[in-house]
Amino acid sequence: MSKIDLSFPKNRLRRLRQSAWIRDLVEENKLSSNDLIWPIFVCEGENKKEEIDSMPNVYRYSVDNLNEVIDIASEQKIKLVAIFPYTPQNLKNVDGKEALNPKNLVCRSLQKLKSHSPDFGIMCDVALDPYTDHGHDGIMNDDGKILNDETNEILIRQSKLFANHGADVIAPSDMMDGRIGLIRSALEENNFKDTLILSYTAKYASSMYSPFRHAVGSSSNLKANKRTYQMNVLNSDEAIREALIDIKEGADMIMVKPGISYLDIIYRIKEELKYPTIAYQVSGEYSMIKLAAEKGVIDEKSIVIEQLSSFKRAGADAIVTYYAPEVSKFLNFLD
Ligand code: PBG
Repeated sequence: MSKIDLSFPKNRLRRLRQSAWIRDLVEENKLSSNDLIWPIFVCEGENKKEEIDSMPNVYRYSVDNLNEVIDIASEQKIKLVAIFPYTPQNLKNVDGKEALNPKNLVCRSLQKLKSHSPDFGIMCDVALDPYTDHGHDGIMNDDGKILNDETNEILIRQSKLFANHGADVIAPSDMMDGRIGLIRSALEENNFKDTLILSYTAKYASSMYSPFRHAVGSSSNLKANKRTYQMNVLNSDEAIREALIDIKEGADMIMVKPGISYLDIIYRIKEELKYPTIAYQVSGEYSMIKLAAEKGVIDEKSIVIEQLSSFKRAGADAIVTYYAPEVSKFLNFLD
């Protein structure tokens, strides 16, 4: 590289920028609907589609109304849909036992979606926060400590339950140690050999999740932060260790979350490990754009495309984003 003569005027980089056709030809990365994972929220009741206060244009669907999700994802060629449940408060308890109820919202949603043989995949989060009355991702003892190994026992059962109901991708988002290996063995032993695991590998203890916690109804319950299990926002080497361990334990894909403030982590993981790497543009990132756009201070479409493009540039293979339906329409020229 250093031997190349970059002197002017032999090199005028603007030649490659002068019109759209040449810019398009030399574009280094592409963003398409093949890259998009759409998180959806499900709730109890019938014929419900309620907008989430903290996330404009994001809805909680009752299970019978998931036809709309199927239609949107199919028409717009979204590749994977992630299900998050809004568990009624009366079904939450200290150990999140609703997570293991074969009739819980996630299982019923899987049945509904799978009965339509969709041509997109379905992913289920594995963690206890939508089901615990304290809002934490794991089992808590009397001193408020989140117990690693006891939590893993439940995560294994939750994973088997979702796999048994047809989940294509199991996505542990809890950040307990050792859970990927245990879940992988349990899936193998129970003949779920093709079930994918997308590990929330580098999940930071971020303040960007608050609109999501409102969406799944865990924010009012959560009295403390999640710093004893989610990563310190100042760490980077540790993300590589997390990723190496998850890969060794049997993860098929790894996730970095949140997205935009963590592009350096996406870049490092992809550069160093060359493994399928997924970015999550989280609820706070979504709502910051949405609300600023509603105020008229930014151009929403161009900012969203720019941010999603930056994930691709950093090395992400795919992106979880609440913007998936809006953006795929645009990317597929359906507008
Ligand atoms: C729960 C979970 C969270 C998100 C995905 N799964 C919240 C948390 O860890 O508190 C956040 C998603 C978002 O903010 O969009 N385990």
